[in-house]
Amino acid sequence: MEKKSEGRVPAPRPEGEDGGPLLEVRDLHVEFHTRDGVAKAVNGVSYSVGAGETLAVLGESGSGKSVTAQAIMGILDMPPGRIPRGEVLFRGRDMLKMSAEERRRIRGRKIAMIFQDALSSLNPVLSVGYQLGEMFRVHEGLSRKEARAKAIELMDRVRIPAAKERVGDYPHQFSGGMRQRIMIAMALALEPDLIIADEPTTALDVTVQAQVMDLLAELQREFNMGLILITHDLGVVADVADKIAVMYAGRIVETAPVRELYGSPAHPYTRGLLDSIPRLDRKGQELYAIKGLPPNLLKVPTGCPFNPRCPQAQDICRTDIPVLHDVAPGRGSACHFWKETIGD
Ligand SMILES: Nc1ncnc2c1ncn2[C@@H]1O[C@H](COP(=O)(O)OP(=O)(O)OP(=O)(O)O)[C@@H](O)[C@H]1O
Ligand code: SF4
Ligand SMILES: [Mg+2]
Repeated sequence: MEKKSEGRVPAPRPEGEDGGPLLEVRDLHVEFHTRDGVAKAVNGVSYSVGAGETLAVLGESGSGKSVTAQAIMGILDMPPGRIPRGEVLFRGRDMLKMSAEERRRIRGRKIAMIFQDALSSLNPVLSVGYQLGEMFRVHEGLSRKEARAKAIELMDRVRIPAAKERVGDYPHQFSGGMRQRIMIAMALALEPDLIIADEPTTALDVTVQAQVMDLLAELQREFNMGLILITHDLGVVADVADKIAVMYAGRIVETAPVRELYGSPAHPYTRGLLDSIPRLDRKGQELYAIKGLPPNLLKVPTGCPFNPRCPQAQDICRTDIPVLHDVAPGRGSACHFWKETIGD
């Protein structure tokens, strides 16, 4: 396919004011106060992403991936949500301490988010061109005509065929994959420094998933943006992520550069996730599935939260919560037996 390379050349972006990463989440805690008790959805999550870097956040349903992203974006339902502790440093400044106005300016302009469900994120009664153009009319004061031209340019960039003819079409007139491209275009409109994509391809079929993921990765490189890619599917992010943070019951249980994590996981949960991906070299063999279900957050097991499902659990696992041990530079594992796991 022809590569659209017209448009601006991205200027080199400075990282955090203190020379640190673009975004750094430190010891973030989020809890929900419900009728049945306090659900601790995020328990001390720390991760970071730099300009031009892709962090994949991986974990089963309910592990706290989206809640962490919502806390970063400042779109958490509060109440029932509460952030008792933690920092969200964007270019070295804690967004949790900013005024609502200051955060609003960062959201959309500096950090944009892409959600799984494009159909419910787009307005069904407005054309996609109008919705894309609105970004430029509202934020940059462009005229209707100028905004429409920008909308077409963006649709071209995300490779929607015949953008000029389709700019007046409504969301339901596009396929799922094309709608997701429109969401990517919306996120790119204001040239953000960071995109958080929460399961951006989950609703799509496998071939379209790969195309949309490749497009996202290509644009991220071209614009030198940071990208946080939330997914429950390791297979989808393997080719595009630089590093991975694996979440379980609101904690990061393993973090590593992507190749190292694939080559030698240092946590039994990661190992289980890897073993449950279909692989050509294991054709004919039965696919492994991690037994049991993630814990109910109102009744998290004592000790290591993964212990009821872990094939390697020992007595200490039922009493002591493992901390994130340094496995190697840039690698951590929250398992008492990470050495045995990595050496297996
Ligand atoms: N508004 C809310 N009120 C109460 N509990 C909530 C609320 N939002 C999220 N939670 C709880 O927080 C936990 C983490 O949810 P989260 O949406 O972050 O999971 P996830 O890892 O994104 O899962 P999925 O893969 O299904 O999207 C879940 O147990 C969820 O029920
Ligand atoms: S700490 Fe124990 S239960 Fe938890 S993952 Fe490691 S071996 Fe398994
Ligand atoms: Mg989610």
